[in-house]
This record gives sequence, C-alpha cells and structure tokens, in this order.
Amino acid sequence: MPRDRSRRPFRVAAAQRVEHDEIAAYGTLVAWATAMGHGEAADLLQATLNEEKTADGTLTKLAESGVNSQAVDAGAMRAAGRDERHARDAVSRG
Ligand SMILES: [Fe+2]
Repeated sequence: MPRDRSRRPFRVAAAQRVEHDEIAAYGTLVAWATAMGHGEAADLLQATLNEEKTADGTLTKLAESGVNSQAVDAGAMRAAGRDERHARDAVSRG
C-alpha cells in the first residue's frame, strides 16, 4: 500500500515546531548562563542551540524539497479519483 504523502508536511511542521521551542529555550538559557558568568555552561548550551538550529534548517530544506508540493499533488489525485467515481456513479444511475 503506498504511503499517504499528504500527511508528511504536517509531520515536518510538527517537528519544526518542537525545534523552534527548543531554540527559544536554549537561547534563553545561553543568555542566563552568560549573564550569571557561567561561561562553560553557556558554551555547552550554545553548542546545543546550534544543533537545534541545524535540525531546524534540515527540516526547512525537507519541506522545501518537495514534501509540500507532493502532498498537494497527492491531495489533487485523491480529489480527481473522487470526481471520477462520482461521475461514474452519476452515469450508472442514468
Ligand atoms: Fe531538537
């Protein structure tokens, strides 16, 4: 059974939402650690923040690589199938 590509953008968007939340949280923690003079902690938190930004960028590339347009195509194909079945049913009913 072929996978339903129309849901993939929602999965990518949900993952990206998590990354954005993590970016906000780690950004805040970096600022707090820096303000409190905890340079080593700030550096470690900054490294994690950078990883979160990289993950966000990867998800953006995935979304822009065709996931969204593939979902639109899949939705259009399903709609076309419904239209075809509807037309056949209408013809068979006379
Ligand atoms: Fe993350």
